[in-house]
Amino acid sequence: MKDLGGKKALVTGAARRIGREIALALADQGVDVALSFHSSESEARKTEKDLLARKVNAVAVKADLTDLDACDLLIDSVTSELGPVDILVNNASDFPQTRLEELDTDRSRFALQFDRLARLHMRAPLYLGMRLGRQMKRNGWGRIVNITDRITVKGQAYPNWSLYLATKYGLYGLTQALAVELCPEVTVNSIAPGLVIPPLGMDSQEAQRLRDRLPLKKEAGPEEIAADVLHLVRSSAKTGTVVVTDGGIGVQG
Ligand SMILES: NC(=O)c1ccc[n+]([C@@H]2O[C@H](COP(=O)([O-])OP(=O)(O)OC[C@H]3O[C@@H](n4cnc5c(N)ncnc54)[C@H](OP(=O)(O)O)[C@@H]3O)[C@@H](O)[C@H]2O)c1
Repeated sequence: MKDLGGKKALVTGAARRIGREIALALADQGVDVALSFHSSESEARKTEKDLLARKVNAVAVKADLTDLDACDLLIDSVTSELGPVDILVNNASDFPQTRLEELDTDRSRFALQFDRLARLHMRAPLYLGMRLGRQMKRNGWGRIVNITDRITVKGQAYPNWSLYLATKYGLYGLTQALAVELCPEVTVNSIAPGLVIPPLGMDSQEAQRLRDRLPLKKEAGPEEIAADVLHLVRSSAKTGTVVVTDGGIGVQG
């Protein structure tokens, strides 16, 4: 098992929820961690403090990942604070409902929403993966992990979230494209979670209904996704592949 002590990681969207858990799990292995945040400044400062308490270097950097200049600034500040990045986890995401009935009647809203989600789920991961991945390749070792969604693996699409779904499929596809470009020094894989933490605003009855549909009758906790990240970071036998952690819903056809 590879010792990760002293490696440097960037985890995007890691102030809270799943990203925070991934950042803490990496720090528990002795990895210096930079986390990016967008609007959750106080949660980001708390996570930064919790990382530092694990006796690793840590820094929280504000970045709107839909903006390429902000991606460049993020790379510059992480590199100057921690040194060259060895591990990139593209976790930042948004999950807005985008009903076709509404998009169809408002072309500018369609364009705006599509651009925002494509930038967040596809352009930023590809841009960060390209810039940091090529540097990792020059340095002789690196790992990129993209957090997608279970639907990228078996289909099972659902209505009213078409822009989220389409752009997560894009993230799945670009994982494979980058894997080919960056091998053999750098591996690029994805994790496809099912229900982990119900979206903010979902009522508890709906969350329970989703839970009841799972063959395993409970969602994977964020620590399961963090364990998947550690597994992929340690593995030297996987690239361009996907780890599915979905409570078993994928077996249901
Ligand atoms: N939760 C689940 O059950 C579930 C299921 C399937 C897949 N996933 C995937 O797992 C990952 C983590 O899930 P999650 O529920 O923890 O994610 P989340 O809370 O929906 O989003 C993670 C972070 O993304 C950041 N973000 C949003 N827009 C941004 C922007 N324009 N620029 C920079 N950062 C931005 C937010 O940062 P700020 O808070 O700082 O604004 C947010 O905290 C995501 O990729 C998600 O798609 C989750």
